Amino acid sequence: MNEDFIYLDNAATTWPKPEVVYEAVARCLRESGANPGRASHRMSVAAEWIIGETRALVAGFFGAPSPSHVIFTLNCTDALNMALKGLLRPGDKVVTGPYEHNSVMRPLRHLQTRGVSLRAVDGTQNLTVNLEQFREECRGGAKLVVVSHASNVTGRTQPIREMAEIVHESGGLFLLDAAQTAGKMEIDVRDLGVDLVVAPGHKGLLGPMGVGLLIMSRELDIEPLREGGTGVGSEEEFHPRDLPWALEAGTPNLPGIAGLGAGVKFLRSVGLKAVRAKEAELSALLVQGLERIPGVQVFQGPGGPENGIVSFTIRGCEASVAGTILDQTFAIGVRPGLHCSPDAHKALGTFPQGTIRASFGYFNQPDHVERLVSAIGQIAEESRY
Ligand code: ALA
Repeated sequence: MNEDFIYLDNAATTWPKPEVVYEAVARCLRESGANPGRASHRMSVAAEWIIGETRALVAGFFGAPSPSHVIFTLNCTDALNMALKGLLRPGDKVVTGPYEHNSVMRPLRHLQTRGVSLRAVDGTQNLTVNLEQFREECRGGAKLVVVSHASNVTGRTQPIREMAEIVHESGGLFLLDAAQTAGKMEIDVRDLGVDLVVAPGHKGLLGPMGVGLLIMSRELDIEPLREGGTGVGSEEEFHPRDLPWALEAGTPNLPGIAGLGAGVKFLRSVGLKAVRAKEAELSALLVQGLERIPGVQVFQGPGGPENGIVSFTIRGCEASVAGTILDQTFAIGVRPGLHCSPDAHKALGTFPQGTIRASFGYFNQPDHVERLVSAIGQIAEESRY
């Protein structure tokens, strides 16, 4: 079924995965598929070793102070929920950006009903956060700032280093949503000056679905969302307070973690620079092609496309219709609509229909772009009559 299919939905999840990821998942399930850390037999120890190795690998990749500052979660949404609900209390103020995903906004809206004060700052023409407004809101005593490193709609990167300095001057914490940048941009949590980073395992980090990350640049007191078995301190009535167990409970996604580890190793061998260069080349090629088609509008920052994401509209053709035609007629997979980020589309002026989003991964090729441009040309032509 996939032979002729062109996958351009890597911002939702990267596909295909490197061969080493498929192999690591299969090998883990076949050879070490016991419950990690719950027993002293060899298979359980081997399973625990995979987790320990991946935790250390991820800590090194993101510059965390130690492996115990890396928490395995279900996905990026889970990590965001853990951080937001574990840190914010009634009466606290939280500040966010204009281009946030529902994985940020929905937990925040919930917390707002429980007495947390929420401020979302505006964007600018350049598709970045309005820094003056942001500074004012932080000065007003924000306990926490949560902002996406790059928009999942436009790919536009935010000035995180500058924002983190502003937050810290006011004594607040910075939570970085790296859903679209982990595995693409260099992220060193301490160098970037952020307190927490959350990331999915299945996007830029090239792992399978069902595993995410919460990484701390220093030890923070986060109230756990889940408590239960950890395999350590079983005699205690209460859940352990030491990291990483304080924030991990229940049997983890061992094959997912094994695959994530293989994904990170693959990235390290290829180099993030090469990944970025490839995606930048393909995105630029696509924008060049789209800009030649009458009726097509591309939404991007002043420096062109970023993080392998290109969002656009076709005059006279709804995004969802274009998405279906691309799949059914041209065998091309993109993601049309609101991309779970209605606020970003409101800021762009593309709400409620949204945009058509093509997103590239390391394994896409220039001929994929050519086929997409040709298909969009035909759809735009038909839509003019
Ligand atoms: N957040 C993912 C996306 O942007 C699913 O498509």
